[in-house]
Amino acid sequence: MSRHGLAACLGLLALGGCEGGSPPGPPTEPGIDQQLRQQLTQGGVVPIGPMPAQNPALVALGQALMFDKILSGNRDISCATCHDPLHHGTDGLSLAIGTGGTGMGPGRQLGSGRQFVPRNAPSMLNQGLRPFYLFWDGRVSGFGAGPFTSPPDVVLPSGLSNILAAQAMLPVLNRREMRGDSGDVDRFGSLNELAQLPDSQYAEVWRAIMKRLLGIPEYAVRFGAAYPGTPAGALGFQHAANAIAAFLMQGFSRYDSPFDRYLHRDDAALTPEAKRGATLFFGRLPCAQCHNGPLLGGQRFANVGVPQVGPGVGKGAPLDLGRAEVVAQQFPVPSPSSYRFAFRPPPLRNVELTAPYMHDGVYPTLEAVVRHYNDVPTALRTYDVTQLDPALRGMYHGDQATITDVLSTLEWRFRTPLNLTDGERSDLVAFLKSLTDPAARDLASLIPASVPSGLPVRE
Ligand code: HEC
Ligand code: HEC
Repeated sequence: MSRHGLAACLGLLALGGCEGGSPPGPPTEPGIDQQLRQQLTQGGVVPIGPMPAQNPALVALGQALMFDKILSGNRDISCATCHDPLHHGTDGLSLAIGTGGTGMGPGRQLGSGRQFVPRNAPSMLNQGLRPFYLFWDGRVSGFGAGPFTSPPDVVLPSGLSNILAAQAMLPVLNRREMRGDSGDVDRFGSLNELAQLPDSQYAEVWRAIMKRLLGIPEYAVRFGAAYPGTPAGALGFQHAANAIAAFLMQGFSRYDSPFDRYLHRDDAALTPEAKRGATLFFGRLPCAQCHNGPLLGGQRFANVGVPQVGPGVGKGAPLDLGRAEVVAQQFPVPSPSSYRFAFRPPPLRNVELTAPYMHDGVYPTLEAVVRHYNDVPTALRTYDVTQLDPALRGMYHGDQATITDVLSTLEWRFRTPLNLTDGERSDLVAFLKSLTDPAARDLASLIPASVPSGLPVRE
C-alpha cells in the first residue's frame, strides 16, 4: 500500500471500513519488507529476465569476433582484452590500455610511446538490457533498432540491429584502443593498413577489416552461416557488429542475484543488512534518484564529484568534462554548465565484480565509493592517490583550480554530507553486493579455445 493508500485507509478506519475488514486499532509499523517493496515500486525497479534467444550462428560468429585480435590494426588486441570474461567483462584497470600494451587484466602494461585510454572499461555484464545511452558520456544513444546518435565525425551505416551493435562499430576506429597510429607495424612486422587510413575515411577502415576477415576461410563459412542469403560482397562491418551484439546479449546476461530473487517476491533472498541498505538506497538517501528502473542506472547525467584522473578527453583535456564535451560536439549551442563533469550513472547489477569504480576507476572498492558519497566535497579534496596504479598517480588532477571547478557544478544533493553511520555504510555495501548473480562470478566458459585467425586468444 502506498503512503496515500495507507492514509486513506486510516481515514476509513474511523468510518469502520477498510480492506479486509480488520478491526480498528493502532496501525502496525510496516515491516521492512513492506517498506522496501513500496520503495521499489516507486523507483520503477523491476526484475530483469532472460534475453530473447539469439540465433546460434550469429552468437558463434560474434564470440569469435569478440576474442579475435584480427579486428585491431596491429593484430595485438581484441574487444575481450579490455572486456575479459576472467575479469567479469572488464579489465580490472582504472583506465584501459589499448593497442601496443602487453598482458591482460590488472597487470596489463602500457606500450612504449602509448597513452592510456582516458576512461575505465565498463563491464559487458547485462549490456543486453540495452540502455538508451552507452558510454560514460552517453555519446551513443537510441532505442530499439535505431536510428542511433553517434559522435559527429562518424555516420553509422543502416542495418544495425541494436545499440550494442552501433557501439561495436566504434572501437575498431579508435586509434588508441584498436586501430593504432599511422606508421605502426603489426605483430608480424607488416604494415598496419588500418592505421594508414585518415580518420575521415572511417568507412574504409570497416571495409579493410571485412577484407581481412573474409580472407580467412573459416570466417567466410561463419558469416555465411550467420547471414544465409547475403552474398559475401554485401557483407559489411555492421554484420560483424550485429553478431558481436548477439554474443554479448546471449553470453553476458546474468539476472539471478539475491536482489532479483527478492524482486520475484522471495522475502528471504536478502539478508537483514542488505534490506537495511536497500531501504537507505531507495528511501532516505538520494541514490535511487539516479540509479533506478530496470537497470538501476543509466538514464540521466550527473556530476557526483569524482576525482579527475587521466589524459583527459577532447577539448577539455587534460580534464574529462564528460557529458559537456559531447553536448558541445553534438549540439552547436553553448554547453549548459550543468553538464560539466557529468557522467552517466552506471547500471549497478553485479557491480561488486567490476572494480575499480567510476569513469576513471579512482576507487578500488565499494566501501570507498560509499565513503565518497557520504561526504563528496571532503572526499574530492582529500583524495588519496595511493589508491591508483603508480603509472596513473602523475595524472591525478588534484590542483585547487580543478577541485573548485568540479565542485562548482556538483549535484546539489551532495553539497552537504549524508552523515551515514559506520553501520549504515556497511548496510549500503551489503545491498550493493546483493546485486551479484553468483553465476556472474565465473564467466570463463565464454572464452573460446581458439579463433579463426589463429591469433592467440590469451596473452
Ligand atoms: C582498449 C580497451 C578496449 C577495447 C579493445 C574495447 N573496449 Fe569497449 N570500452 C572500453 C572503454 C574504456 C569504454 C568506455 C569508454 C567511454 O565511455 O568513453 C568501453 C565501452 C564499451 C561499451 C559501452 C559500455 C557502457 O556501459 O557504456 C561496449 C558495449 C563496449 N565497449 C564493447 C566493446 C566491443 C564490442 C569491442 C570490440 C569491437 C570493444 N568494446 C573494444 C575499452 C575497450
Ligand atoms: C545525482 C545522481 C546520482 C546519485 C544521487 C547517486 N549516484 Fe551513483 N553514480 C552516479 C554517476 C553519474 C556515477 C558515475 C560518476 C563518474 O564516474 O564520474 C555513479 C557511480 C556510482 C557507482 C560506481 C559504479 C561503477 O560501475 O563504477 C556506484 C557503486 C554508485 N554510483 C552507487 C551509488 C550510491 C550507493 C548512491 C547513494 C549514496 C548513489 N550512487 C547516488 C550518479 C548518482
